[in-house]
Amino acid sequence: MKGIHHPRNDVTINPSGNESIHDVIGRTDPGRRTFLKTAVSASVLASLGGVSLSGLVRAVEAAPVPAGPGFPGIGFESIPPSVIVPPAISIVDEVRVPAGYKVEVLAAWGDPIMPKAPNWLEDASQDASAQAMQFGMHVDGSHFFQYPQSGRGSGVNPVRGILCVNHEYTHEEILHADLGLEYVAANPAKGIAADLGKPGSVLTVPKIRKSQAAHGVSVMEVRKNAGKWQVARNSPFARRITANTPMRISGPAAGNDLLKLKEFRILPDRSEYTGRTTDGTVAWGTANNCAHGYTPWGTYLACEENWNGYFGWTDATKASPTKLENRYGISRNGFVYGGASPSAAADAIYSIYKWYQKDGRWDTAVDPNAANTFGWRVEIDPFDPGSTPVKRTALGRFKCESAQYVTDDERHVAFYMGDDERNEYIYKFVCARPYNPRNRKDNLDLLDHGRLYVAKFTSEGVPGTQRTYRGAWIALQPDTIALDGKPLRENPEFKASSDADSLALILIKTRMAADAVGATMMDRPEWTAARPRTGSFQDIEIYCTLTNNNRRGGGASTSATSANSPGGSTAAASARPAVDIANPRPDNDYGHIIRWREDGRSVRTTGFEWDIFVLCGDSATTKTLDTTAPAPVYDPTIADASIALADVYEGNIVDNPAGSADFGAPDGMWFDYFGRLWIQTDQAGDAKGDWVNIGSNVMVCADPNTKEVRRFLTSPPNCEVTGVVTTPDGTAMFVGIQHPGEDSTASDPTAYSNWPQSQFATNTAGAALPNTPGKRRPRSSVLVITKLDGGVVGS
Ligand code: FEO
Ligand code: CA
Ligand code: CA
Repeated sequence: MKGIHHPRNDVTINPSGNESIHDVIGRTDPGRRTFLKTAVSASVLASLGGVSLSGLVRAVEAAPVPAGPGFPGIGFESIPPSVIVPPAISIVDEVRVPAGYKVEVLAAWGDPIMPKAPNWLEDASQDASAQAMQFGMHVDGSHFFQYPQSGRGSGVNPVRGILCVNHEYTHEEILHADLGLEYVAANPAKGIAADLGKPGSVLTVPKIRKSQAAHGVSVMEVRKNAGKWQVARNSPFARRITANTPMRISGPAAGNDLLKLKEFRILPDRSEYTGRTTDGTVAWGTANNCAHGYTPWGTYLACEENWNGYFGWTDATKASPTKLENRYGISRNGFVYGGASPSAAADAIYSIYKWYQKDGRWDTAVDPNAANTFGWRVEIDPFDPGSTPVKRTALGRFKCESAQYVTDDERHVAFYMGDDERNEYIYKFVCARPYNPRNRKDNLDLLDHGRLYVAKFTSEGVPGTQRTYRGAWIALQPDTIALDGKPLRENPEFKASSDADSLALILIKTRMAADAVGATMMDRPEWTAARPRTGSFQDIEIYCTLTNNNRRGGGASTSATSANSPGGSTAAASARPAVDIANPRPDNDYGHIIRWREDGRSVRTTGFEWDIFVLCGDSATTKTLDTTAPAPVYDPTIADASIALADVYEGNIVDNPAGSADFGAPDGMWFDYFGRLWIQTDQAGDAKGDWVNIGSNVMVCADPNTKEVRRFLTSPPNCEVTGVVTTPDGTAMFVGIQHPGEDSTASDPTAYSNWPQSQFATNTAGAALPNTPGKRRPRSSVLVITKLDGGVVGS
């Protein structure tokens, strides 16, 4: 996420210039490019002397990437990036994949997904009740659950499954018909270049209800009919979960005073206070479900990421956020359009969501506890459409991006999770009991019992390795000794009459507990991915994308540094820590991917080894790195110690030097069932500034052994690629395209993109993707990608 509609924990990459690709390449010495980790090493290139570099690289690209331990190989060639090449003026408004593959739209925002759902109307005039039965907006993480074989069959049904899809947020300017959310005059000083909404447009609760209904999760049955995966809109499994769906709160923090809510009746035109207070075990709605998780017992986890931006307050006498609100980034006006101050009452007009202005459930002055019921993992049983989603407090409360599970040989289960904000932390939760593969029911409370840990990445080298270091998991428990030498139970934030109550406070204020124990501040942890334990590869190896951090190290403006206070008083994303061995680049705008291997192949261990999988970037970049900030080297005892990580940009795509390069801002990431690592990116997507060579966002496929990367998919302008899963047999892949044409206004919805109707006439079910001038608007969608020969995607 980025752009003016986005929360500020994401970095809007500064377009520092609009130099053309040809200008850049003209000044770029191909010999500087980093091929060190690709299939052809620099020394091989050198030994070939007079061979043309571009010809050689093309030849390399034509060959498949061979299989290796735990890796089945890559069988496709990198496709070119989608960059602006004069005289064209924009990125092609299409999704592109390699030859031999077919890409189609499975479901687009507004498509009916359940019985009685109305067909989408192109002018977006439908209300919340329609939206609550239609596919939500701005897709993110997703998972495909294969349906069990029915009748006498065993195993799975190869043509039937349930696809759960998160809807992270909304593009309010195109959600509410052609008038938009509310008329706000252009104000460049506040970062608003053109009018928001149209004159006469006013904010109403019904509009807020539509926005809330476009958030949450879609649970859809999908069936393969005549070779095509389609949404089965009459399925009894289909359901929508929204920002208003009743939920249960469970686990160690359930019932805590901080989770007791003022109870509201949620009506179409208002929220009405009943005068009652809940008992701390119920909540309403989930919001900003970015990435996700799933469990070995077949449930889905919607993770709540930038939920803070929907909250605010209207009471002018409340001067500032509480300490807890401050630590989680809750401010007076919630997320605001670029440039407006979140703390000035007069800037309420620039609030993006404005839910808190008309719906007291989101007003932290009306109910100081309302926000405490967000920041959790929400477990949803896709096979029980009548089930109540459950917020699982044992897994901690933060701005959770994703929760990837691993099981070890003893069937113990751990979930690995990133808190996506600048300088936040990586966590794992270990279930107290092993899971039971024979009795599903036996697992349905596994997420209520266990231990939460936070990661510390140290610079202690692992003997006999290059660039591999030790790390530790620190338990967040009442008896954990914090940096001040005292157990957490004695910290004023977590003091309670019993250890059970102290643990509840640790879980509600997870960020503060991690501050207190000195966890490692990371460059915005996004998705986690677990490498499958297949063939000879049996380690427990987890990857995490660290998407970027413009508050790391000195940056361009200052060399001052500050850390998250161990007392928990730091405002979200306000620290500016020094570079460290795990986050080595100052002003890290291309991001990197870190990975770790658990000691003893056990998820219950508290020790691990880690290394950096890739330092993303554009190896043909014109960007100048800050040379004043400290630049840790990998390891002074090894031969290539001269490589200062701060000076390295490497995307590792074997590419044509006359074409373009690499990738950056890694975000979505998932290992397929065979061991290929799929990585998706989230940068501005406009091929400007630092992204002039990289172009729009991409999905690449990586070999975890050699780090070779190939570009599989390029996207339309101003979108991000997020959400990837396949059917268990690997023959169909579902990929999300989020916010195509981001930042367009109600006056000109297709200013940047008219996707998917720019590319497709229908979805896979044959329903038209209407494309009427004057009514059209871009629609976030889930794609289905198949191989023309019916084979495994990526093979
Ligand atoms: Fe919603 Fe961290 O991306
Ligand atoms: Ca992101
Ligand atoms: Ca993300």
